This record gives sequence, C-alpha cells and structure tokens, in this order.
Amino acid sequence: MNVIGIESSCDETSVAIISDEKIKANLISSQDFHVKYGGVVPELSSRAHLQIMIPLVKKALDKSKLELKDIDLVCASAGPGLIGALLVGLTFGKGLAFSLNKPFVPVDHIEGHIFSGFLMDEKPEFPILCLVVSGGHTLLLIVEDDLKIKKLGTTIDDAAGEAFDKVSKMLGLGYPGGVKIQELGAEGNPDKIDFPIAQCKNEFDFSFSGLKTAVLRYLQANYENYKQIPPKDIPDIAASFQKAVVTALIKKVEIALKKYEVKSISMVGGVAANKVLRSKLSELSAKHKIRLVIPDLEYCGDNAAMIALRGYKIFKAGKRFGLDYNAYPCLKDDAFTE
Ligand code: KG4
Ligand code: ZN
Repeated sequence: MNVIGIESSCDETSVAIISDEKIKANLISSQDFHVKYGGVVPELSSRAHLQIMIPLVKKALDKSKLELKDIDLVCASAGPGLIGALLVGLTFGKGLAFSLNKPFVPVDHIEGHIFSGFLMDEKPEFPILCLVVSGGHTLLLIVEDDLKIKKLGTTIDDAAGEAFDKVSKMLGLGYPGGVKIQELGAEGNPDKIDFPIAQCKNEFDFSFSGLKTAVLRYLQANYENYKQIPPKDIPDIAASFQKAVVTALIKKVEIALKKYEVKSISMVGGVAANKVLRSKLSELSAKHKIRLVIPDLEYCGDNAAMIALRGYKIFKAGKRFGLDYNAYPCLKDDAFTE
C-alpha cells in the first residue's frame, strides 16, 4: 500500500511517501525566514506552505518513482498546530484524496510523534514508556498498543522546547533556541549555576516556567544590563539551564520505570534531538536493561513520514473518516485513556 503523508502544522512543510511502512521519501522544507522575527509568524507560515506544497509532492513522487495514480491512502496532520498552516496541508490532503477517489486519514500531530520510533529499523516493543518533548508538548505516556495510550503526566505550564526557545531569546541567541543552547552549552560548565527543578503534585507532571523565571532572575541579579550578557558567560548559563531541563525529564522517566513494567522506552519530538538528553536517557535505559528507541534527527522534528505511518496504522486498524471529519485527535475515544 502506497501512503502519502502531509505535514504543515507549524514551520516545516513536509511530504512523505511510505510503502507498507517502508520510507520511500521524506522531504522537509524548513521555513528559516522566521529567524529574523524571533519566532514563527503564522500568516507567513501559511503562505509558505501554500507555495511549496505542490512542488514538494511532485518531488516526493519522483523520489519514490511513483505517480499520483499509485497512491492508495492520503494522510495529513490535522492538529494541534497553527490553524492557517494546518489548513493548507489538511485541505490539500482532502482534495487530493477526493480527486484520486482514495481514502483520507486526518492524523493527530502528537500521535505522529509518539509512534515515530516505529520509523526506525529497530522498533520499540509494546508497552512503551514514551517521553514526548516538542515545542508545544511535554508528555510522559505508556503506549500499550497502536490504539491505547495512557497518559502519566504532562507539563503544567511551558513545554520543554518552549523553555529552550524562551531562554534562548533571553540570552540573545534567537529562535529556534534548542540547537543554539545545545551548541553553546557544550562549551560551558553545567554545574556552574544551580537552577531549580520543579516539584509537581502529580509525580509525573513537569513544570518549566519556574526554571525560565529563575534564569531571568539570575540574569537580572548578575548583570547591570541583563539584555546584554557578555558572550563569555553564555556557555555556562546555557549548560546549567540545559542540565536542569534534562535532569527534570530524566527524573520522571526513572520514577516511571520503577513503577511500570515496560518493554521499551522511546523519546520523540523536536527536543529529542538534544545530545545531552539522548545520552542521559541512553545511560538510564542501559542501567535498566530496557531497549531505547529515539528516532534519527530527521524524524525527531516535524516530518511527514510519521504522519503517513500513523495514518496507515489507523487505517489498518479499521478506522475510516469522511472528508467532513476535521476533529482531532482522531482517536480521542480510544487513546489517552487515563
Ligand atoms: O517537534 P518539533 O519539531 O515541533 C513541534 O511540534 O513543536 O519541536 C520543536 C522544538 C523547538 O522548541 C526547538 O527549540 C526544540 O524542539 N529543539 C531542541 C533541539 N532541537 C530542536 N531542543 C533542545 N535541543 C535540541 N538539539
Ligand atoms: Zn511536532
């Protein structure tokens, strides 16, 4: 079965084609021009998706050596995300499915991330302890099977990626912040500043807003003009902040491993690209002798291969959606059962 996946929820336009779970193409066009605005401008994002969508579909078909008539299933990201941006991919996908007279599956973007470990050669095994760390979400989940996800905890304020982006902005490093903090942090001393790690009522919940404020307070207390920090000091601040985020995330995974019996651990989403986080989670999984699956960098950030795979699995599970179906998550009734 040839499946086309479309992703346009934020600042990446992506088109992928998979054939029975095998990736034939996964093309990602990143909207780098948002950098000069210090964050994603929704209107510009929608316009850029619109411009690039059709050329990207043509390229993906060429790369896969397929034609439109060979496509059996169309899947598109249905949310969460920027509504104008989502509408480009979602309505394009529906139009494509209608014109080809082929089925259409609207895919929840976060579910796409959750199952992105299955794009790797070595796949996770159910039940999976899954840490979702993206720009908008931080979730700790037990994924029991393709349709059953139990939520252990989530962030009560900012997402992990959001914290990276906001602190990066504070340090004058710009957007997107994760990679910049990682790069500068690699040159700094993570033990230089003791930033706080939040305690939450639910032992599996996360909170990063206090940490963000602690960084701001540190800057205000230590620099006359906290908007102009001497470049030589930035690596230590970046490394210490990164250490606090990583420690908070790893701590919750460790508690969950003691409480739940799982066959594998998976970490997904944009922040899963973080080198320090990847290495700490590897150490933890090795200690507990549990298989760890983290997608390759190409599949950590937003990509359409994860949307195609998730849609294909939902379709194979017998779920069908009319073109009037806009709601998400598609599996609301089945998934995220507390
Ligand atoms: O999953 P994603 O591509 O988009 C959303 O669905 O949100 O995640 C984007 C987030 C951004 O906040 C970005 O700063 C963060 O992932 N990120 C990182 C790294 N690479 C991307 N955070 C920490 N370290 C990285 N290397
Ligand atoms: Zn995402």
